[in-house]
Amino acid sequence: MNRKEFLKRLGIITVGATLIGVDSEAMASGKSASSGAAGESSDPSADDGKIDMPVRSLKADVSSPVSVIIIGAGSRGRTYAGYSARFPDTMKVVGVADINVYRRNLVAKRYGVPKENCFGDFSEVFQRAKFADAVVIATPDNLHYEPCMKAIAAGYHVLLEKPAAQTEKECRDILAQAKRYGRIVAICHVLRYAPYFVALRDVVNSGVIGDLVSIQHMEPIQYAHMAHSYVRGNWRNSKQTTPIILAKSCHDIDIIRWIVGRPCKSVNAEGSLKLFRAENAPKGAPMRCTDGCPYEKECPYSAIDIYVRRKRHLTVFDLPDKKDEAAIMEKLRTTGYGRCVFHCDNDQCDHYVMTMLFEGGVTASFTMDAFTPWGGRRTRIMGTRGYIEGDMKKFTVWDFRTGRKSVWNKKVEEIPEYRGAGHGGGDLALARDFVEAVSKQDQNRLSSTVDVSIESHIIGFDAERSRKRGKRVDVKI
Ligand SMILES: NC(=O)c1ccc[n+]([C@@H]2O[C@H](COP(=O)([O-])OP(=O)(O)OC[C@H]3O[C@@H](n4cnc5c(N)ncnc54)[C@H](O)[C@@H]3O)[C@@H](O)[C@H]2O)c1
Repeated sequence: MNRKEFLKRLGIITVGATLIGVDSEAMASGKSASSGAAGESSDPSADDGKIDMPVRSLKADVSSPVSVIIIGAGSRGRTYAGYSARFPDTMKVVGVADINVYRRNLVAKRYGVPKENCFGDFSEVFQRAKFADAVVIATPDNLHYEPCMKAIAAGYHVLLEKPAAQTEKECRDILAQAKRYGRIVAICHVLRYAPYFVALRDVVNSGVIGDLVSIQHMEPIQYAHMAHSYVRGNWRNSKQTTPIILAKSCHDIDIIRWIVGRPCKSVNAEGSLKLFRAENAPKGAPMRCTDGCPYEKECPYSAIDIYVRRKRHLTVFDLPDKKDEAAIMEKLRTTGYGRCVFHCDNDQCDHYVMTMLFEGGVTASFTMDAFTPWGGRRTRIMGTRGYIEGDMKKFTVWDFRTGRKSVWNKKVEEIPEYRGAGHGGGDLALARDFVEAVSKQDQNRLSSTVDVSIESHIIGFDAERSRKRGKRVDVKI
C-alpha cells in the first residue's frame, strides 16, 4: 500500500482529525477491517490528529482447541498456558514438564493435566509417543536447543522462547530442522505482536514519513531489573545463557530489522560491564546484603530494598504469600538474589551500543542501558518526509510538509481482553497467532516465523562478535 492509498484508507485528515477504523493486521492480510475490534482508542491531545487502528481480538479464530504441552512451567511457560485459561475453546494444556515440582503441580492443577502427562525433565516428554499438537518451550536459554530439535523430530509444532538457542550454529540447525520436517516453529519475539509495534510498522510501511532513512532505538533496562536478572539472576552469565544483546535485546534487533524490512549488511558494536565488578565494591561490603552491609541504606542495588521493601521481582521465589517479609529475607539469605551486586559471578554488559547498516543505505543505532529509572523502549524513526517518536505507549508522527502531528495512543491495557497481557499485549497476541497457525497449518499467520527470527538472532551474534573483535562485522544470512 502506498502513502496515498494509506492516507485515503485511514482518512488522515487535518489537525484535530481522526484516522479511523482500520485494523492494521487485517490491512496486512487484506481482510476487512471492520470485524474483530476489541476496543476503542483514547482521545489524542487537542492539537493532534489521531491514528486509530482498532486492535484485533485476542481470541483465536479456530474451530477446535489446539493441544499443547508446556515445557518449563516458570514465568513464561505459565504466561502462554494462561492463554488457555482465557480462551479455553482455542487452546488446551494437556501436558507439563518442569523439574520444579511446585511449578509443575501449579500448572497441572490449574489446567487439569492428568498425572501421566506430568513430567520432570523435558526429555521425558519425548520418551512418549506424540500426544499433543504443539509444545511450548520456555525452559532456560541453555535448554532450548535440545527440546526444540527433539520436538520437531517427534512431530510437534513449537512455540520457542527467545533466544532460540545459544549459538548461531544451533539457531541454523533449528531452522533446518523445521524445514526438514515441515513444522511450524514460532519464536517468542512478542513485540512484533504488540498493537503498538504493529501500528508503528504499518505507519512506516504506509510511506507517510516518506522513505525510511534511519532509526534510533533504545532499550532502557532499569537499574533494579538489571541487578535482578543480569547481575544476580538467571541471565547473569553470558556463557551459561547468551550474551545480553541476545538474552535481553534480541527483541530490539528483531523489531528494527522488521521495521526496516530489508536485510542487514553489517553491524558494529561496543559495550562493557562497567559497574557490577568486584573491584567496584565499596570497602568492607560483605558478600550478601543480608550480612549487615554498612552501605545497605544508601545502595540503590540493595537486595533488601528491591525485594523486601519494594516487593519487586518476587515471582522467582515461588512464595505462597508475597507479603511475607520473613520468607523473602530467608530467600535473600539462601539464594543468589541476596548477593552483593559487586560479588556475583556475572559478566553481562551493563551498557551496549550497536549500529546497523541495511540494504539501500538505511541505518539504525541501538543502545541498551542498565542505568535508567524505567524500562521499556524508546524509538525515533527518520524518513524523507516525516519523523516518528515513540515510547512503547504512544507514538507521534510529524509530517514535514504540513507541519501536522498525528498520535497513536491506544490504551491497550484498558481493552478488557488485553488486561494483564504482558509486553503491551504481545504475549497473548502471539499465542493467538500461534494457535491459528497450528490449527490452520499456516505459518503465514505468524509474524515471528523461524526464518525471520533466526535471521535477527544471527545479527545479534554478529553484534557480539563485533564487540569482542572491536571491528565491524559483515552479516551473512
Ligand atoms: N519473550 C520474552 O519476552 C521473554 C521474557 C523473559 C524470559 N524469556 C525467556 O523465556 C525462557 C524462560 O524464562 P522464564 O523467565 O520463564 O524462566 P523461569 O526460570 O521462570 O522458567 C524456566 C522453567 O524451566 C524449568 N526447567 C529448568 N530445567 C528444566 C528441565 N531440564 N526440564 C524441564 N523444565 C526445566 C525451571 O524449573 C523453570 O520453572 C528463557 O529462555 C528466557 O530467556 C523470554
